[in-house]
Amino acid sequence: MKTVCQTEELRAAVAKARAAGMKVGLVPTMGAFHEGHLSLVREARGENGFVVVSIFVNPAQFGPDEDIGKYPRDLEGDSRKLEELGVDLVFAPGVEAMYPPGAGTKVVPAPGLINRMCGLTRPGHFEGVATIVAKLFNLVEPDAAYFGQKDYQQSVVIRHLARDLDFDLEVRVLPTVREDDGLAMSSRNAYLSGDERREATALFRALTAGGAVIERGEREASRIRAAMQEVIESAKGVQTDYLEAADAETLEIRERLIPGRVVLAGAVFLGKTRLIDNILVDIPE
Ligand code: PAF
Repeated sequence: MKTVCQTEELRAAVAKARAAGMKVGLVPTMGAFHEGHLSLVREARGENGFVVVSIFVNPAQFGPDEDIGKYPRDLEGDSRKLEELGVDLVFAPGVEAMYPPGAGTKVVPAPGLINRMCGLTRPGHFEGVATIVAKLFNLVEPDAAYFGQKDYQQSVVIRHLARDLDFDLEVRVLPTVREDDGLAMSSRNAYLSGDERREATALFRALTAGGAVIERGEREASRIRAAMQEVIESAKGVQTDYLEAADAETLEIRERLIPGRVVLAGAVFLGKTRLIDNILVDIPE
């Protein structure tokens, strides 16, 4: 496994693999790996001759009130895990390599995808994500790129980005990996105190409760939100940021659900830690 920090080195290594006829898979990450990340890497390893993992804590997707300095980082530990999984290339650039002085061009996702859910609490976040992902797509030109379903809104933004900007690649979105009690794995779980960790399962329980009322025939979004909110309120120290039922393709929020695939998505605060999660529910005709 090779690690490079400069974009020229990245392009050269990928070009060599491609000249050798290999299919290239890209797993974009911000490091601090848990099983969720590793499941993406395993999938990429199984489907490609050459696997690139990028590790970059992207300042453009953090707001002014979000402490990027506190984001967990463990390049050494992460590299050991990637080596074990047989990754070919790690791209771990510094900020200057990705945003040289004067770089100001941004990729702005369609407003309808970002003026809701996480986009309301984190203005500018999805521009930051779309910009860095577009840059990585341009640098690596992968055949396939791998993302986790846990960041559902992000995955929709990236699918649309790839389609709208004609990136010739497959966007693969893989299932959320959960702890035994249902909590979605996240690098941010490391911030939780013991008590917060115990209460953190409320989000997944709330989404599951929302799914159950849909299964029983409820179609009014307000009642589905209320069923989810009730579970959050029964937990100690958990505050709702949002709980929504949205069209899984377009993220459109309807007051009455119609047949098709719906994403139940939510974000909650436990102290200063913000956790997100979602589940998919199919509504029959
Ligand atoms: O999901 C993440 O870790 C990040 O948002 C991503 C896609 C690597 C872009 O920085």
